[in-house]
Amino acid sequence: VHTEKNNLIQLQEEAAKLYHHVLVNTELGVPALKYLHDRKITDDMIETFNLGFAPGQRLLKPFFENKKADYQLLRKSGLFIENSDGELSDRFTNRIMYPIRNDSSKTVGFSGRILHKDPDIPKYLNSPETSIFNKRKIIYNIDLAKPSIRNEQNLILFEGFMDVISAYQAGVKNGVASMGTSLTNEQIYQFNQLTNQVYVCYDGDNPGQKATKRAISLLGDEGQFTVGVIQMPNGIDPDEYRRKYGNDKFKDAIKSARETTVSFELRFLKTQYDLSNDEEKLNYVDAALNVIAKIDKPVERSVYLKQLSDEFELDMNALTVQCKQIRSTFINKRQRKQVRMLKTDTVPEVL
Ligand code: UTP
Ligand code: MN
Ligand code: MN
Ligand code: MN
Ligand code: MN
Repeated sequence: VHTEKNNLIQLQEEAAKLYHHVLVNTELGVPALKYLHDRKITDDMIETFNLGFAPGQRLLKPFFENKKADYQLLRKSGLFIENSDGELSDRFTNRIMYPIRNDSSKTVGFSGRILHKDPDIPKYLNSPETSIFNKRKIIYNIDLAKPSIRNEQNLILFEGFMDVISAYQAGVKNGVASMGTSLTNEQIYQFNQLTNQVYVCYDGDNPGQKATKRAISLLGDEGQFTVGVIQMPNGIDPDEYRRKYGNDKFKDAIKSARETTVSFELRFLKTQYDLSNDEEKLNYVDAALNVIAKIDKPVERSVYLKQLSDEFELDMNALTVQCKQIRSTFINKRQRKQVRMLKTDTVPEVL
């Protein structure tokens, strides 16, 4: 079983080499290379991330057949699709190939991106789960990011591969991404082995904001972290920001756009209310107080209460009183839960 995993890795490494060769040295790769250059990805990054191209014709199949690779191994590699007669053909065609490396820098799978928008096919296609490719556990770029995460004492979590590569090119090397799927506790556990400070830097669009909310609550529940948010302005994603404003502005934004999870939550909440309407304004203030009341440190609570008071010209005392009321109901709930837990804890002893 152990050697089968090694053989599978060997296969992925060879496929990556071939895809890369097609991209950088052949006529077939020209459109894909142009696409990457148009996206302001340098040749240096193409090498560092070993980017490749899967052309619109059979590539891996004849290559591995010539090498007399084992059929069962090829089946298990995830690099092929199988028809009802058991015949294999290349899974990835006409896609820019992003090799996915595990934390020992071994290629264990791929993600492939189409060159042109097509509503009928997914923009990114990932390798299926295999014995060496577990999407819940894999973290994109963890191998290269590790030293920088330790140096900087923090990790930046991006939404997409392109954001990670773009940031790396700008010199922000502590960035990683989950595998298209949402963040998992297996990944959070690995973050925690490296650092206790995580910044979530997802896309500025609505799905990105929703995913940010989910990620910060999961990071809070599953890990021991100080969590922060970095939000690129104007609803664009980090890669678009770098392309538009350049490496230096991007790096500035990564440093200066840092905010606490509470200020992110309040900002996000605010977008859900029509603040020109008095009733909705009060509803927002109520919802905001519910967020603020959860903060454990009194000084921190007062900072956000003061902000709310300034922003809507509300009486600071009234806000404080109301926040205290909400907080006491939270604390009662928490205590009741603790009492319940104590009771269930004692059950085995009574028995
Ligand atoms: P985005 O749609 O934000 O893509 O999805 P992106 O990273 O900005 O990609 P570009 O800039 O258009 O090339 C974020 C992430 O969600 C996953 C991928 O991991 C992607 O990086 N995703 C997205 C998929 O797995 N499949 C899809 O069809 C789309
Ligand atoms: Mn090369
Ligand atoms: Mn997105
Ligand atoms: Mn994006
Ligand atoms: Mn993008």
